[in-house]
Amino acid sequence: MMQLSLFDIPHIKEKRQSGIFSADDFGVQTVRLNLEKKLIDITVISNDFNRKTVSYQLSKNDCLHRWLKYKEGFSADLVKRLLSEFDINSGDTVLDPFIGSGTTALVCMMHGINSIGFDILPMSKISIDAKQSVFDYDIAELKQLIIAMENLSVPDDHASTTDCITITEGAYPKKTEREISFFTKWNMNSDFSDKAKNLITLCILNSLEKVSYTSKDGQFLRWDHRSKKMLQAAEYRKKSGKNPLVIRLDKGELPTLKKVLLDELKSVFSDILLIRKDTSHPPVSDITFVEGSALFELPKLKDKTINGVITSPPYCNRYDYTRTYALELAYLGITDAKIKQLRQDLLSCTVENKPKLEYLHNHYASLGKQHDFEKILKIVQSNRALEEVNGALTERNTNGDINNKGVLRMVNGYFTELTFIYAEIYRLCKPGAKVAFVNDNVRYGGEVIPVDFISTDLAEQIGFKPVKIYSLMQQKGNSSQQMAKFGRVPLRKSITIWEKS
Ligand SMILES: C[S@@+](CC[C@H](N)C(=O)[O-])C[C@H]1O[C@@H](n2cnc3c(N)ncnc32)[C@H](O)[C@@H]1O
Repeated sequence: MMQLSLFDIPHIKEKRQSGIFSADDFGVQTVRLNLEKKLIDITVISNDFNRKTVSYQLSKNDCLHRWLKYKEGFSADLVKRLLSEFDINSGDTVLDPFIGSGTTALVCMMHGINSIGFDILPMSKISIDAKQSVFDYDIAELKQLIIAMENLSVPDDHASTTDCITITEGAYPKKTEREISFFTKWNMNSDFSDKAKNLITLCILNSLEKVSYTSKDGQFLRWDHRSKKMLQAAEYRKKSGKNPLVIRLDKGELPTLKKVLLDELKSVFSDILLIRKDTSHPPVSDITFVEGSALFELPKLKDKTINGVITSPPYCNRYDYTRTYALELAYLGITDAKIKQLRQDLLSCTVENKPKLEYLHNHYASLGKQHDFEKILKIVQSNRALEEVNGALTERNTNGDINNKGVLRMVNGYFTELTFIYAEIYRLCKPGAKVAFVNDNVRYGGEVIPVDFISTDLAEQIGFKPVKIYSLMQQKGNSSQQMAKFGRVPLRKSITIWEKS
């Protein structure tokens, strides 16, 4: 593949004022300012790299990549550009430790590039299995499947309901619960091939939000005013003499599962036909996916086996995947206890995450890699920018500027765990391999946390050569409370590029 420099654009050379990292010059910001001075020359704003490229918005129009509705996904276009920029060729192997819906793996597959990926959420496996079979489906079987589904209706005596967990209780009208359970059993007991069954499971997952009283919204699920949860909450407030809740969500008439499911299936089917028509020789490559935490899986892989990394970890923004995807997780049989465990397995990105160092220590010891553990931990503990951020957040907390003390633990845990990921990636990369991380900068209690700069600094300590920081100024960086109290500060979304020399 030709090496292309698609992101050649002017460097950011704005004059910085004091106060940029710490509102009202409240805390020490020297290390962050020095880091900025050091990295500004490799920080560039790209015309090609914009909000659409790094987000799911482009994927929505991408055949195949849109099969799992995953708002946190980046676009296939971004992966294609980076593969080209990194000069990665067919037969090479690319790693994505946070694979999500599988964008990196699937773009690699279409270019004959092998990939390895991890994720803790079970939706990833269903999505990747379905997408990587695009050239293997039996078209006649899929046609039959659509006809069979068109002729189905829920029998009056079908009584069983759908699995739910505490957060998803009452998410569907009763008749929809029956429909979900009926279509699920029909799928399980049908004679269709395993590939076709997995495709139906994927389509059911994609249908759940549409047929429910919920709507994915930022950190949580929002609930329609007609849902049992909201009705109970309203009743409770009335009884306790409190003001009524203002619930604005009204999803209108909810569609039937059968309708949504058929729409999903037909859209996937037309993608399959289109992709096959456009591809004369199906590419040959392997996708290795393991459902598990990258923190625990990467140390098990062999040194110097990877030609490049294209990934996007959870952001340090309190976003809880286990809450946003509660409907899908419950559908896949994940219990309340397992949800709690999954939340803890997330790279620390919520205020509920507890430190993982003890588990990591035990894991590295069990692999005979105690020395690696200590070396990585030393890097975290000696990083001055992280030390400054931790100190500033502690002072902000004492000053009453942080509304949840868990933020302090989350930020420290986030960088600690990412350093383990960066160090493992360094070990796994072949010399010359390039690494891309898509991430967002964040701000808590008036303190800007330049995730891109601190990560690049940690990567350099590990041995990587910083190459570029492609940057996109975000429009929606600050929470409304932050803006009201500390003013508005633009926060970058970035792609950091490093190289193992
Ligand atoms: C920003 S999303 C990645 C989206 C992906 N690039 C795509 O196009 O679909 C981050 C992913 O990291 C996963 N994740 C969080 N903690 C993890 C961990 N410890 N190990 C592996 N994956 C994790 C989340 O479940 C989520 O799918």
